[in-house]
Amino acid sequence: MKMATEIFVPQITDICDEGNICVEGLNVFYGDRQALKDINITLPAKKITAIIGPSGCGKTTLLKCFNRLIDSIDGTKVTGKVMLNGEDIFDPHADVIKIRKKMGLLSQRPYPLPMSIFDNVAYGPRIHGIRKKSELNQIVEYYLKEASLWDEVKDRLNTPASGLSIGQQQRLCLARGLAVKPEIILGDEPTSALDPISSAHIEQKFVEFKNKYTIVMVTHILRQAIRIADYIIFMYLGEIIEHGPAYQVLENPKDKRTSDYIKGIIS
Ligand SMILES: Nc1ncnc2c1ncn2[C@@H]1O[C@H](COP(=O)(O)OP(=O)(O)O)[C@@H](O)[C@H]1O
Ligand SMILES: [Mg+2]
Repeated sequence: MKMATEIFVPQITDICDEGNICVEGLNVFYGDRQALKDINITLPAKKITAIIGPSGCGKTTLLKCFNRLIDSIDGTKVTGKVMLNGEDIFDPHADVIKIRKKMGLLSQRPYPLPMSIFDNVAYGPRIHGIRKKSELNQIVEYYLKEASLWDEVKDRLNTPASGLSIGQQQRLCLARGLAVKPEIILGDEPTSALDPISSAHIEQKFVEFKNKYTIVMVTHILRQAIRIADYIIFMYLGEIIEHGPAYQVLENPKDKRTSDYIKGIIS
């Protein structure tokens, strides 16, 4: 099995500093139904963490806790903490806008804004008060290059984003997310709607970015986790069954449910 190049041995620590995401006793209910059960995990900063597990096991729910998108779903109840840089993002006094600004999100399907390619990338910087055209030009070019899209769109920046292919749209969403300078990139199966070349683009970007950002990616593609993850969380029926450095979880799983999932006996 070819693993992500860098072998990563995490510090086992309860200390929630240096950008680690520390989840403590997290429970999530949709109405009466419990989707996450007593989740305790520290996700390492500036690494790629892959959340894997069968459909319906709670991967998306966990990801939605990190940017508090979970709040926007009616009837949800959350208990427990998610600590980031010493602050509980579920604290009733937490600033949700500030939290979301730290997180870039790539969904299963790209959702470009109904405006031009240029305006999509300039959207966040404009909200943050940048108005000068020359400055916006520089920002848009920089982030489109960061997302490996510049060469394909530089001659049509003022055309609607909807004219791009799905794979290009996902890279545009990446550029738009990066332009607000997040600390964390969240991906919920971000390549599942893409063709293989566009998927490879996104994977390659994640690997390039991991020294700059903490990346947390839900994937149902085990081979993708093998290719790019440093750290793996295996979930099953709302619980974390196993977590650790990717090589350890994938090559030497401790729990039978993990090994059955990896072998494809459960899916
Ligand atoms: N908005 C919702 N309302 C009610 N139940 C939900 C909602 N979203 C997810 N669930 C349930 O919560 C569980 C976990 O879902 P989800 O986090 O989407 O799993 P995964 O991403 O691993 O497929 C599933 O049983 C799912 O049916
Ligand atoms: Mg999901």
